[in-house]
Amino acid sequence: MRLAVCSSKGGVGKTSTAANLAAVLGSRAAGGRGRVLAVDADPQDSLGRAFGVVAKGRDDSLAGLLEDPEADARAAVRCEVAPGVDLLPAHTSLEAVGVALAAQGGLLTGIRRVLRPLLDDYDHVVLDTHGDLGNLTLSAVAAADAVLTVFTSDPGSALGAARVSAFVEQHRRFENTSAQLVGVACSLWDREGRAAREVVGALEGTGLPLLATRIPLSRRVPSSTLAKRPVVLSAPTSPVALAYTALTDEVLASYSERVPS
Ligand SMILES: Nc1ncnc2c1ncn2[C@@H]1O[C@H](COP(=O)(O)OP(=O)(O)O)[C@@H](O)[C@H]1O
Ligand SMILES: [Mg+2]
Repeated sequence: MRLAVCSSKGGVGKTSTAANLAAVLGSRAAGGRGRVLAVDADPQDSLGRAFGVVAKGRDDSLAGLLEDPEADARAAVRCEVAPGVDLLPAHTSLEAVGVALAAQGGLLTGIRRVLRPLLDDYDHVVLDTHGDLGNLTLSAVAAADAVLTVFTSDPGSALGAARVSAFVEQHRRFENTSAQLVGVACSLWDREGRAAREVVGALEGTGLPLLATRIPLSRRVPSSTLAKRPVVLSAPTSPVALAYTALTDEVLASYSERVPS
């Protein structure tokens, strides 16, 4: 599976979801042959930070690989940032590199091109994106065969999920990607809140692949970022970690149902 985690805005829990999914998939692969590549396609480099990884410079990151087609992708990959997980970090220059490459027509296929020599080494790729549906996100979706979107109790959230679905459909029609939307997941779930129930209600019956697992609000998630270890590794038996594990299983099940092998 090559999964891009996308949303039309920031702060919805994408990076936390991408980091925990990668960690769950990696922990299952650890010791075995299968491995996971986590790719930070957000210039804010938060996925890297979730594992305590920061690129030393542009050349050491996805930005450098996008800029220089001759560069050795393997050299920029950080190995074993968590059990079974390797990581390709972003760098703040990624935004400027993306703009320059888009002007030359090379951004759409850029991330797909960068990842191609690496794919044989991994069972799964998890790409984190910036909170928008801009050109860098499209490049990540073009490299993916599956998309997961995340929403919160915020009233605009249901609309955001519909936007991501329309975005994926549009770019499938343009043949920019073969990716399918495999899940719409609720994060920062406040079980007491009316707003959360209303958003879920608005999404039910839309035909979008709404996942049953809700990721609860938990102080453990922000503290896991400080600890540089996703919560499924730092507090594996906590309710939020169990939810991320269940979400991973749902995403895998939806993937095998929706994406032709
Ligand atoms: N389940 C959760 N409970 C509490 N805080 C969370 C949860 N998930 C994410 N957060 C916090 O919310 C903020 C935004 O989450 P993040 O994963 O970075 O979202 P995005 O990548 O969509 O911007 C971060 O400070 C993160 O630590
Ligand atoms: Mg993020």
